[in-house]
Amino acid sequence: MKNKKVIVYPGSFDPFTLGHKDLVDRALKMFDHVIIAVLKNPQKDLLLDPEERIKVIKSYFQDNEAVTIDTFEGLLVDYLQEKEVNLIMRGMRMLSDFEYEFQMSLTNRNLYSDFEAIYLVPAMELSFISSSIVREIAKFKGELKGLVNKETAAILYEKFK
Ligand code: PNS
Repeated sequence: MKNKKVIVYPGSFDPFTLGHKDLVDRALKMFDHVIIAVLKNPQKDLLLDPEERIKVIKSYFQDNEAVTIDTFEGLLVDYLQEKEVNLIMRGMRMLSDFEYEFQMSLTNRNLYSDFEAIYLVPAMELSFISSSIVREIAKFKGELKGLVNKETAAILYEKFK
């Protein structure tokens, strides 16, 4: 990916939502390539295992060559340095996101001085979506239309069967 403008989009993506998809689409207007980096073994208990989370993300991007789906373990900065990328993107939905994102950015820069992050704001109608809200709705078999794609909804309903 030499000479290409590449950005990494790290996260747990449990599951990937239409809000996440909106951010990747926005990033692709500014960058040649987005690497979606799925954290494999986070501290928190996740609903979907890494393979399921990857299957979900693939369903959003099909054969889009501008998007790579990858996994990482351990520190994000180690993964970034291995990939020779110093830039990540994250979503900024509301003020409550700010504190965590600010702390995470400064921590990452403390570990890797070249580290940079940009924050993208999703479409207003998607800005209330979070993976945790999606999991909760799926658990009680609620309507997931407008929050995730059909493939993701099917995987989530199956999980709670
Ligand atoms: O989707 P999330 O859960 O908000 O994503 C958080 C993520 C995966 C980006 C963050 O937890 C992370 O980078 N974890 C890897 C461990 C690490 O590098 N920690 C130090 C920086 S906070």
